[in-house]
Amino acid sequence: MENKTLVVCTANAGKLEELRLLLPKHLVLRTLEEAGITEDVPETGETLEANALQKARYVHERTGLACVADDTGLEVDALDGAPGVFSARYAGPQRNAADNMKKMLAELDGTSDRRARFRTVIAYIDSDGSEHQFEGEVQGTITHELRGIGGFGYDPIFLPHMSDLTFAELPIEKKNAISHRAQAVWRFARFISE
Ligand code: IMP
Repeated sequence: MENKTLVVCTANAGKLEELRLLLPKHLVLRTLEEAGITEDVPETGETLEANALQKARYVHERTGLACVADDTGLEVDALDGAPGVFSARYAGPQRNAADNMKKMLAELDGTSDRRARFRTVIAYIDSDGSEHQFEGEVQGTITHELRGIGGFGYDPIFLPHMSDLTFAELPIEKKNAISHRAQAVWRFARFISE
């Protein structure tokens, strides 16, 4: 099959590698920098869907290449779906995971409804300009205290359904086998392989 270039709208090398392993080999993955985008890509949407699409459109409009972008958030039922799209900056612009978790446990203090989900949305724009979205989610609950040291972000306080271990206590390969991001990536990979 003819090679095709796909720009991955992330500065995160881990995300690029994850995609490289799962996507068909005729796709040549390029970082933002390799595609000539050196400025911060705007991310000002009100939803995960809007943010992912905004990033992919920004890069597609400037490069004309196929682009893929994602956005992830933690949605807590007792907080009406917050922090959602604001997960990274929940406790402030410093984007500090420990501060974010501290704030969440304080907000949920005395709350028995601890239901929550991680949701990832992937936006893909083909070189012909057609737009597609893919989603992955993991249901779970918010613990009462931090548990585990693995992972990142909210992992120490997220207990996925059907597990006695938080995302931070699970071995990374177990988390990656069930994660919201992995599910969204698989759906995208299946689409692009067909
Ligand atoms: P991003 O869209 O992948 O940058 O994720 C936004 C924010 O959601 C991150 O800064 C983290 O706070 C949180 N987050 C995303 N994915 C995960 C995860 O797998 N575990 C824990 N927190 C996550």
